[in-house]
Amino acid sequence: MKKIATSSLILFIISIFTFSTILAQGKSTYIGAKKCGMCHKKDDGGKQLKIWEGSKHSQAFKTLQTAEADKIAAEKGFKTKAAETPECLKCHVTGADLDAKMLDKGFKIEDGVQCETCHGAGSEYKAKKIMEDHAASVANGLTEFKDEAAIKAFCETCHNSNSPTFKSFDFAKSWDKIKHPVPKK
Ligand code: HEC
Ligand code: HEC
Ligand code: HEC
Ligand code: HEC
Repeated sequence: MKKIATSSLILFIISIFTFSTILAQGKSTYIGAKKCGMCHKKDDGGKQLKIWEGSKHSQAFKTLQTAEADKIAAEKGFKTKAAETPECLKCHVTGADLDAKMLDKGFKIEDGVQCETCHGAGSEYKAKKIMEDHAASVANGLTEFKDEAAIKAFCETCHNSNSPTFKSFDFAKSWDKIKHPVPKK
């Protein structure tokens, strides 16, 4: 009897969590890298904003505005400029294909591959109190990466042979170039 009560209680708790996750994801909007950066720019916190600004990801949209990109798009048979071609935008920016309602005022598509491309839309998890609590952040839409294999698999959703300029992807080397940990205290 007690066992049944415990397991249904656990089931109940799980369903509340799942339900609130779905609700949070339904409400979530993209706030933009600048907003994330307000709390993630200090050196002693790991200066995630500066690391990202210094990475190619922050330039991924600008890259599509180059003559080289237009040439690649034309060779692929697209009639539009690279920066207007959905097939290029899908890996180079977040937001081009989303309803404007999903994008907050401060969000810029021109920021390319940005914080929320990888971490998920942040409107519901961005509060300091939620951010300091991992489970609460995830319940409010923060993407959870279980382990390194999960991170690698995620990178490879863009770093693959569907990229017209793809040669190879060395996860360890690439991750080393863009990782941005919070320093251990
Ligand atoms: C109001 C301040 C604030 C804002 C805005 C904010 N964060 Fe955070 N975030 C924190 C704090 C505080 C932590 C806890 C770790 C630390 O001290 O840096 C944290 C932790 C995190 C973590 C690690 C969480 C975990 O449990 O694994 C990620 C990832 C993260 N933030 C991404 C983002 C992204 C992406 C945005 C924008 C959508 C954002 N943050 C906006 C304050 C903020
Ligand atoms: C949404 C698609 C997307 C995801 C996901 C993504 N990238 Fe990228 N990445 C790009 C694009 C697009 C560029 C090229 C930007 C440019 O040159 O303008 C790039 C460039 C890079 C570069 C610089 C070029 C190079 O090969 O040295 C590194 C390093 C990199 N990414 C690492 C990663 C890692 C590590 C992950 C996973 C944690 C990741 N990326 C996930 C789209 C993505
Ligand atoms: C499957 C995801 C994906 C798609 C689709 C994609 N790209 Fe990229 N693009 C990347 C990634 C990842 C990089 C960086 C590493 C690489 O070259 O694969 C990149 C790099 C680039 C670069 C920089 C190359 C360099 O040598 O610095 C250009 C230019 C570019 N892409 C143009 C385009 C154009 C134009 C299209 C559309 C026809 C397009 N991309 C479609 C993922 C993609
Ligand atoms: C290409 C994907 C990508 C981009 C872009 C990106 N991150 Fe991350 N970030 C990750 C991954 C993967 C991790 C490691 C797994 C985790 O902690 O969730 C991580 C970890 C973090 C952490 C936790 C570090 C720790 O040691 O606990 C913070 C904070 C964070 N990112 C903030 C940001 C902010 C702010 C931006 C934008 C300025 C950003 N990230 C851009 C993929 C990305």
